[in-house]
Amino acid sequence: MGSSFPALTAEEAAELIPHGAMVGTSGFTPAGSPKVVPAALAKRAKALHDKGEKFQIRLLTGASTGALCDDALAEADAISWRAPYMTSGPLRKLANSGRVDFIDMHLSHVAQVTAGGFLGKMDVVIVEASDVTSDGRVYLTTGIGNAPTFLDQAERVIIELNSFHPPRVAELADIYMLAAPPLRDPIPIQDPLDRIGTTYAQVDPKKIVGVVPSNLPDGGRPFSAPDATSHAIGEHVCRFLLDEIAAGRIPRKFLPLQSGVGNVCNAVMASFAANPDFPKFKIYTEVLQDTVIDMIVRGNVLGASTCSLTLSDEKLRFFYDHFDDFADRIVLRPQEISNSPEVSRRLGVIATNTAIEVDVYGHVNSSHFFGTQMMNGLGGSGDFERNAYLSLFMCPSVAKGGRVSTIVPMCTHVDHNEHSVQVIVTEQGLADLRGLAPTARARAIIDNCAHPAYRDYLHHYIESAPMGHLRHDMRRCFELCNNFLETGSMLPDLDLKQFEA
Ligand code: COA
Repeated sequence: MGSSFPALTAEEAAELIPHGAMVGTSGFTPAGSPKVVPAALAKRAKALHDKGEKFQIRLLTGASTGALCDDALAEADAISWRAPYMTSGPLRKLANSGRVDFIDMHLSHVAQVTAGGFLGKMDVVIVEASDVTSDGRVYLTTGIGNAPTFLDQAERVIIELNSFHPPRVAELADIYMLAAPPLRDPIPIQDPLDRIGTTYAQVDPKKIVGVVPSNLPDGGRPFSAPDATSHAIGEHVCRFLLDEIAAGRIPRKFLPLQSGVGNVCNAVMASFAANPDFPKFKIYTEVLQDTVIDMIVRGNVLGASTCSLTLSDEKLRFFYDHFDDFADRIVLRPQEISNSPEVSRRLGVIATNTAIEVDVYGHVNSSHFFGTQMMNGLGGSGDFERNAYLSLFMCPSVAKGGRVSTIVPMCTHVDHNEHSVQVIVTEQGLADLRGLAPTARARAIIDNCAHPAYRDYLHHYIESAPMGHLRHDMRRCFELCNNFLETGSMLPDLDLKQFEA
């Protein structure tokens, strides 16, 4: 097993990574991300900087990572280039101040552009595994990400052998690699729980330069209980989907559901669980959060395909303690497969994701505040939204205590466009945009989703804008944003008491 490879300490492994290296990591979110080697690398970077030496890496991962990777490396100023997604506060600051080149990518694209050489060669990959065999079978843990492709592409491989995870975690993995175009076969997934690959990723064992022991959990944090706003959003989504079933537009057996990240998505899932009329369903997604584990236990969810188990440490322990109950209900896939447009379209996925801002015509901003400040990235939202059978975006109607309307005349940054966004939901209500021309879309979004305090402004904006297929006034389309930046409120005269709970 792991013992046929050189045993290294985290510090010795970190020494093997040179300044300027392109480093890949396993995992997706903190789940399955390496921990002790990135932390040691951050320490090494600090020590080198103290001596006046340069040390920075280019870091390519599955999605976000844990605090011991992104936070530690960002705090050590050890990253020059980063893709494809992040949730780290320290890293966000560097990206927004131009000190890290951050590339926000569709997560399903990462494996293909890596294998295609678009990002340059990968020097080292650090992979968290529950086991590795002398013939190069690497058994991954709670997040697969791009590990199979990175193991294939990287020149050198460091394994973090993590004993926190029981060996049986490997039973969840279904590793399937795509051939390079034009020799690619259709992906033979007809049901979210279909297994089409192996339980391990394969690597040329000659590339493994060392194995580092670790026993750290992923460090996932629990979600806060749904507040009134996210509860109301959940209720609107639940009612809408039940009405769609009644109207015959969704089969009674339902369709596989994709659920995005964050508190709102967690609350929406909770609403499904609480409604006795909601059908039992399967999930085809990239991230499983705590609520889904409870829903599997209660029988609301029949099974899930995902790229990662992004669970709080407490929920992960429960999961391992009851592993037999979950082993045939969860499949962990590489993100190229969990987020595959082909599979989403074939299965008829219902995509539910969260927006930062939505404009009156249905464009969606998932990633940037006020057109300039990166939050996390668009993640997998575009992979699912564009290719779903039905695509919903959700957000509270206001942010910052009512000083910000999330429904605006024109999005200050667009991740998803009017051509594929179908339904918008806030705590105020739901706008079904299917088949509506721009002016009707604007009315539906303003009347159903905008906070009442902003409706008059938004209606007046549309009505006073020059006529066109899309009515816009290019002199005023960012007025709300500019008001906020100048005065701290999109509508400076608004009485903020009305937003207090
Ligand atoms: N303008 C300014 N700030 C805004 C805002 C807006 N339009 N909308 C939200 N915010 C702020 C909130 O006030 C909050 O700030 P605070 O923490 O200082 O209070 C912060 O953004 C997060 O808002 P919250 O409503 O708690 O977000 P969330 O946890 O539901 O996450 C996204 C929302 C959009 C940031 C998150 O879903 C995301 O990163 N999405 C992109 C990736 C994705 O969709 N992946 C899906 C596939 S799994």
